[in-house]
Amino acid sequence: MNIILGICGSIAAYKSATLVRLLVKGGANVKVVMTPDATSFITPLTLSTLSKNPVLVDYFIPETGEWNNHVELGLWADLMLIAPASANTLAKMANGLCDNLLMAVYLSAKCPVYFAPAMDLDMWRHSATRENISKVQSFGNILIPPNTGELASGLHGEGRMAEPEEIEAFIIAGIKKKLPLANKKALVTAGPTYEAIDPVRFIGNHSSGKMGFAIADEMAALGADVTLVAGPTAQLSQQKSVTRINVTSAAEMLEACLQYFKESDICVMSAAVADYTPVTVAEQKIKKKDDDFSIGLKKTTDILSELGKQKQDGQILIGFALETNDEELNAIDKLQRKNLDFIVLNSLKDEGAGFKADTNKITIIDKNLQKTAYTLKSKTEVARDICTKIIELIKK
Ligand code: CTP
Repeated sequence: MNIILGICGSIAAYKSATLVRLLVKGGANVKVVMTPDATSFITPLTLSTLSKNPVLVDYFIPETGEWNNHVELGLWADLMLIAPASANTLAKMANGLCDNLLMAVYLSAKCPVYFAPAMDLDMWRHSATRENISKVQSFGNILIPPNTGELASGLHGEGRMAEPEEIEAFIIAGIKKKLPLANKKALVTAGPTYEAIDPVRFIGNHSSGKMGFAIADEMAALGADVTLVAGPTAQLSQQKSVTRINVTSAAEMLEACLQYFKESDICVMSAAVADYTPVTVAEQKIKKKDDDFSIGLKKTTDILSELGKQKQDGQILIGFALETNDEELNAIDKLQRKNLDFIVLNSLKDEGAGFKADTNKITIIDKNLQKTAYTLKSKTEVARDICTKIIELIKK
């Protein structure tokens, strides 16, 4: 996300360094625009170092004779944050005054604008400020309310700029609310399961978990509250908000899924669950004796089928089918048998598809048997395609 951080002349400008660091750490590209007065409170050098971008104060760069194009800056930004927003700048925002670069960028910006006021208690309470804030809010700009606390004047009261962490959290919450999967709870399974034979051996498979982790990450990036039930895998989630539940066996995965399914709006089962598990698990390591050795196996519960039976109206259930032959027929059979909204088919005949690769080639078949075939893509892109289908389903 491209963010313009506008900084005004206020003692709270010292917090801008932390704010820039947080935004950059969160993955944003940050360009700082300061009012001339703000440079007395914190140096442009500090902020350019932290933002890794030149800090803009004037319309012109005297050394090069170049012009800081405010229209371009306004269009570049996905979000503009004015923090601290001084009483003076708020008055200019309310009235469209344009006597510095920050105001020119503000008036040119087409993106959401957040502002975090910072001023003394009496200035904050003044009718002029109250009116300016209402007016700015009526333009659609979003107020990040100040805190009550010790003020630079020595007074105690309202007017202290929100802390950088609070500003970041406020913005993230605002962005999340607008995301297509906001307020949706998602359950995703990923990776293999290991079925114990004895204390040191198991039956497993080659699933890397990459596909399921990519789906969980993509859903979280789209605003969903994601629980990821993961079999044994070295994969890590890229999204901090994903809640990971580690399981080992099919039985443990079933238990975790049953626990979270009821409250889930969307459920994507991409784990490669063992279909059979040893009838008994030896308590001690099995010693080699005979030339032949066989293990009695029993069927595991098909988690997806079980969830399909429990599915309520409004819940979306998605499964995977990894096939080697009669791909579409087998996938359609699973789609119908397991009561799914759609199934993601990948064929082992397709090079670059399946378990271990970083890529996948899928066909999505929905319950009306509409097919969408995709080209070979990275698993992140495939996850995006799957989420696009989910969003289409939600909108229907
Ligand atoms: N699945 C599951 N629980 C199982 C087996 C499979 O939840 N015990 C889910 C997988 O996560 C996947 C889908 O069912 O979403 C299809 O898995 P797959 O192994 O292709 O199908 P099976 O139904 O096991 O059929 P088969 O192995 O005979 O092809």
